[in-house]
Amino acid sequence: MSTLLVGESGGPTSVINSSLMGVVDEAKKHFDKVYGLRYGIEGIINEDFVEINEDISLIPGAYLGSVRFKLTNEYERILEVFKKYDVRYFVYIGGNDSMDTCNKIDKYLKSVGYECYVIGVPKTIDNDLVLTDHAPGYGSAAKYIATTFEEIYLDTNSYKEGRVTIVEVMGRDAGWLTASSSIAKLNGMGPDLIYLPENTFDLDKFLKDVKTIYEKNKKVLIAVSEGIRDKNNKYILRYRSFNNDDAFGHLQLGGVALILCEIVSNKLGYPVRAIELNLPQRCSMHLASLTDIKEAYNCGVYAVKAMLDKKSGFMVCLNDYSLKPLDDIATKVKYFPQKWIINGNNISKEYYDYVLPLIDGEVKLEYKNGIPVYKKL
Ligand code: F6P
Repeated sequence: MSTLLVGESGGPTSVINSSLMGVVDEAKKHFDKVYGLRYGIEGIINEDFVEINEDISLIPGAYLGSVRFKLTNEYERILEVFKKYDVRYFVYIGGNDSMDTCNKIDKYLKSVGYECYVIGVPKTIDNDLVLTDHAPGYGSAAKYIATTFEEIYLDTNSYKEGRVTIVEVMGRDAGWLTASSSIAKLNGMGPDLIYLPENTFDLDKFLKDVKTIYEKNKKVLIAVSEGIRDKNNKYILRYRSFNNDDAFGHLQLGGVALILCEIVSNKLGYPVRAIELNLPQRCSMHLASLTDIKEAYNCGVYAVKAMLDKKSGFMVCLNDYSLKPLDDIATKVKYFPQKWIINGNNISKEYYDYVLPLIDGEVKLEYKNGIPVYKKL
């Protein structure tokens, strides 16, 4: 009986393990040997597999361990391992770089005539995978971000004379996550200004916007994407001196709120505070979206069914549930629509029709000692 391997790749989300669970639950109905890869592709190269025999769906982080690994000349090794364990089914859960890896493996196995079904399962808080309406992971991150903005709003409005509070949100190239801060406005509590990476960041205009609001309200709440760039396409983050690029040549982002706070303080003299939402926005299971969890699980189930249907070289897409070629998805970026950006610093109401269904529903966790109980490998 042939083997199914499943791996997790790239930055984790709150629901990545729900997809993993969906794959494992469905696969166990059909295959004797279902293994999880320790640290994605590295798990193949190192023959490092584990069996999953417990419910791991409501755990943040990547249960199996994740990796950012750029394939170079590991193809023969992968084939060798696949032959050794008779691997005929391979599922990779990840974002656009991971879909590239998945695509390359599928193409290589086809080129050498090795029968194996390869399917990608979408995962990214950034929501920047193309051809799918949205990606598992986004709804939960958006719910966390909007909730946190409500709460920060209430705190920062406590003082009559407050600060310029700049909150940095993840999302390397696309502003989907930063835009979700605007959901708090529906409850009357959102940020005053919102800056996405889709628009050139104009420092002078930013300072003008900040000044106008501060002079009126004596406080400003700002949402800013970690990925904003100036007119020379330079990350505002590159204004700092050290370099920290990852395996795909991407700059390790984080810290732009602090840089902007420094500029506001120096140029305008207002009191400032920088907040970086950082990892909590992708691992806060207590604020996960139930809809997101269910969809993530269903994507995993759907991937296995697709392979049983002899489909290979596709990613599961959430336009209902469907398959789209990895070729058309790998390394591409879906940007936040310009039509939903107002005046370069705000989000239009049309976005809410899109996002509200994705953040719907709350999760029930098991608690011990007053905090959630999570399993780990
Ligand atoms: O996976 C997407 C993402 O969460 C981005 O929003 C962020 O820039 C990046 O991952 C950070 O990843 P890492 O875990 O490598 O720091």
